Amino acid sequence: MTHAAITGWGKCLPPAVLTNADLSTFLDTTDDWIASRTGLRERRVSHVSAIEMATVAARRALACAGREPGDIDLIVYGSCSNDEQVPNSASGVQLALGARGAAAMDVNTACTSFLYGLSTANAMIRTGAIRRAVVIGVELISPYMDWDNRNVAVLFGDGAAAVVLEASDAPIGLLGEQLGCVAEQRHVLRVRGMGCVYANRDVVLGDTAWDFEGQEIFKHAVQGMVRASAAVLDKCGLEASDIDLVVPHQANLRIIEAVVSRTGVPMERVMLTVQRYGNMSAATVPVALVEAIEEGRVRPGATLLMPAFGGGLTVCAHVVRWGDRVTPLGTTDAELPRCDRSALEMVTAIRARKADAAVRSGAGLRAPRLDVR
Ligand code: UT7
Repeated sequence: MTHAAITGWGKCLPPAVLTNADLSTFLDTTDDWIASRTGLRERRVSHVSAIEMATVAARRALACAGREPGDIDLIVYGSCSNDEQVPNSASGVQLALGARGAAAMDVNTACTSFLYGLSTANAMIRTGAIRRAVVIGVELISPYMDWDNRNVAVLFGDGAAAVVLEASDAPIGLLGEQLGCVAEQRHVLRVRGMGCVYANRDVVLGDTAWDFEGQEIFKHAVQGMVRASAAVLDKCGLEASDIDLVVPHQANLRIIEAVVSRTGVPMERVMLTVQRYGNMSAATVPVALVEAIEEGRVRPGATLLMPAFGGGLTVCAHVVRWGDRVTPLGTTDAELPRCDRSALEMVTAIRARKADAAVRSGAGLRAPRLDVR
């Protein structure tokens, strides 16, 4: 059967950096607390839309693969932060790229969306439905962040990355995956104020509030990723010692340490980006993958393990066998437009807009807690 090789990779990080010190100017928190409890030092705040970030990442991945937008049969946009609900976001990327022959679909499994998208495109290539796909992981969290809630505001960041998948006769690409969902825990991570269920409740759209039970998420994230990693290694007939590099979801350094130690992989074989970018949800794993390749940590023929979890609580682990090429075939001059504001200025503006909207609508109309799970 045909396989699906990863032939191109590219990332797009917005340039504005929000440090822990910036957060402590308006939140009751400290650099020391954030760094010691999570590993984070800084994260990015985007000045452009999610589609713009996704498009730059996709252009870089296509150039890396030596492909044109017209070569692509499918665009998968993995994210839970769409610029609009309708039309879908993948269609926006198709338009911006000029990839007129490509089908365009969004996949939302929260932080695991890139990896679920990888599974989707891989399966379509292997069945012969398509030959080439761009799979994107992107997140624009800053506009709907609950910036005055220190439980969540310190953890997340914006970003995007993409890969190109192509049909190949060589047994490389995605060797196997374990997908799952701990749905009885779906209430522990919920962004209120996004979605139709709030439409008849006089809620100011975008005035989001997060339900976030950090310790519950932590516990289920570790359990879920350890189980999924063991299951996918078993499916692929591999041992932990066969893994050359773990490229995990990066929500918290302590979660990563707990997962890899239980899986039996030493920390030297783990790619870490959490310190610099925080949790970019669906963008986290592909950005870490791209940086691992750029840093020479993915060798030809390497076997990679990618465990992740997200709202839902969705969990998964993927095993990828890399091909021979670890250098780009080409580059592009695709860039985001210049950013003339600091991250703190952008966050301050988001907080001010939300406060204004709440006052204008009579205040106190924040999205209510749901009485259903
Ligand atoms: O992709 C899915 C996204 N979600 C996650 O990954 C979340 C997973 N969970 C976590 O990463 C951790 O549970 C957190 C980082 C969210 C919290 O770390 P923790 O070690 O579980 O801290 P905690 O919730 O037990 O809080 C410890 C203390 C509390 O104070 P008291 O009650 O001991 O006085 C909190 O109020 O730290 C306080 N605290 C903070 N202090 C300063 C909580 N957040 C902060 C903060 N700055 N940002």
